[in-house]
Amino acid sequence: MNLNLKIWRQSSPNDKGKMADYKITDVSPDMSFLEMLDVLNNQLIEAGDEPIAFDHDCREGICGMCSLYINGEAHGPGKGITTCQLHMRSFKDGDTIYIEPWRASAFPVIKDLVVDRTAFDRVMSAGGFVSVNTSGRTQDANNIPVPKEDADKAFDAATCIGCGACVASCKNSSAMLFVSAKVSQLALLPQGKVERTERVLNMVKQMDEEGFGNCSNTGACEVECPKEISLENIARMNREYLVASVSSEK
Ligand code: SF4
Ligand code: FES
Repeated sequence: MNLNLKIWRQSSPNDKGKMADYKITDVSPDMSFLEMLDVLNNQLIEAGDEPIAFDHDCREGICGMCSLYINGEAHGPGKGITTCQLHMRSFKDGDTIYIEPWRASAFPVIKDLVVDRTAFDRVMSAGGFVSVNTSGRTQDANNIPVPKEDADKAFDAATCIGCGACVASCKNSSAMLFVSAKVSQLALLPQGKVERTERVLNMVKQMDEEGFGNCSNTGACEVECPKEISLENIARMNREYLVASVSSEK
């Protein structure tokens, strides 16, 4: 396959940035999208040009690092996959492909296609954990029954990989799908219920302080999420938040 690539180049956070044109030839349909970028980078390095910076790590849909906006879609075409799981057979010979970084003020561009997603880390630090008593007099977790339905819902929420596609695909750059997955994962399980009030209040406060917008109610986040995290989690977080707000006022 021969392809025309239009790729966002930005040398630093303060650079204005622009789209740059590249041609790439002999791309195998079996290559992953990131392997295609590797080939392009090798060509750029051999020609003495600066390679394109992009994020990646596991390359198997687990770490949430790969974060590209491809032809106007977070993680490109295909449902329930990350950029690293996208293959070139999803495109046709002669196609023009637009490749951009996530666009959200809370995720500023560091270089080319790499954005700063530490805002998510700060939201997690605000409450996305359980505090565990390790005194030795703790109850055996296996003695606490968890209804199957709750366990399944908690597990589904826990599959969120923190990639940020939900933010990138929302017209309000809302992080509510991400935050609600993290709140739900813990609120549904006995060990998460102890800190549920502070958790939801603190995580939502941090989410707002980071500059993420409110839910746009369009559902774009759910459509583009590579782990198909359900909007139900946002409804659950809103209920958790309401109950926590009322009980903290008492
Ligand atoms: S909710 Fe989905 S899109 Fe958002 S960070 Fe988690 S896995 Fe990525
Ligand atoms: S590189 Fe880890 S999810 Fe894509």
